Amino acid sequence: MTGTDPFLAACRGLPHGHTPVWFMRQAGRSLPEYRDLRGEGSILDAIADPALAAELTLQPVRRYGVDAAILYSDIVVPVNAIGFGVDVQPGVGPVVERPFARESDLERLRPLEPEADTPYVLETISILVEESPVPVIGFAGAPFTVASYLIEGSPSRTYGRTKALMAGNPELWFKLIDRLTDLAISSLRSQIDAGVAAVQVFDSWAGALSPAAYERFVQPATRRVFDAVADVPRIHFGVGTGEILHLMADTGCDVVGVDWRVPIDVARDRLGPDTVLQGNLDPALCLGPIAVVEAEVTDILRRNNGHPGHVFNLGHGVLPETDPAVLERVVQLVHELTVDAGNPMSGA
Ligand code: CP3
Repeated sequence: MTGTDPFLAACRGLPHGHTPVWFMRQAGRSLPEYRDLRGEGSILDAIADPALAAELTLQPVRRYGVDAAILYSDIVVPVNAIGFGVDVQPGVGPVVERPFARESDLERLRPLEPEADTPYVLETISILVEESPVPVIGFAGAPFTVASYLIEGSPSRTYGRTKALMAGNPELWFKLIDRLTDLAISSLRSQIDAGVAAVQVFDSWAGALSPAAYERFVQPATRRVFDAVADVPRIHFGVGTGEILHLMADTGCDVVGVDWRVPIDVARDRLGPDTVLQGNLDPALCLGPIAVVEAEVTDILRRNNGHPGHVFNLGHGVLPETDPAVLERVVQLVHELTVDAGNPMSGA
């Protein structure tokens, strides 16, 4: 992949042919070909089958013409692989048999040995490196978001137990987060060695924290993750993060993800003119009339104002009810409107 690849160039804030687009959860239930191929059973079994996982990764690349492929995997794969006991229940998300509650639970979080514990992930990446026409993005859950699943036991609205552990036993919190940081680093390093061209760290639920809590309990761990993967472009993503965006940007990442709550131009005002941003179409809008979607895409590009450091994406994952034709149109429109992205003579 050369420096003129639109996705990799945009991640570095360099000029390129057109604004690159990819979608979080671009592989998944919105695609009929996904539903056909994926079958029933746990997503963790599908992930453990490299030929299947590679094919599920490539389906949206072919269908949408997106500029990057995201590895078909899940943020709980490493913790599951070391035997913590996590399942991903359809329509629910990760569910943990015995949630993390006390010091002795640390013993259930041994270091990850990627070659032995997640060989299928590395094999999927090897297939994709051969077969993907676009760069492959590897990923990991950020220490906080993975910790929240392990502590809460299932998806939570309040993160009550997680915040109670931070407040009541910070020493144990830091021991937990340290292990999860090591896990994320081992997993990402192995994905990079296998050939991914960029990485995204999903701190999906970091927006639940106050700036002070984020700064004290989360930012140092996330910074350690990014420091360990500095050889590829690094994207940092979360939802509802407007008030902590400056702290999330200050972790060594190259690209800051923004959801639809913060307009791109406002985010760039907050973070500085050189900041590379990813986002930020509201995925729920994609269920609405196509004219509204088109107007919103146009507005996002107008707000980006021809800045070369923009990776177009949704503000969060594709909703399963989304009509694939809408996403096809989004890709086409972004490409059409951004010929020579970052070239001051053109612009959106
Ligand atoms: O296309 C892609 O984005 C690639 C693959 C991907 C999946 N999960 C596959 C998946 C990625 C990048 C993830 C990351 C992930 N997993 C996150 C971070 C991103 C985010 O949404 O904030 C989180 C929080 C998880 C945990 C998780 N896994 C949830 C909340 C769910 C949804 C449960 C449901 O069924 O609605 C999953 C399951 C999951 N992971 C699916 C997919 C395609 C859907 C279910 C399936 O096909 O079994």
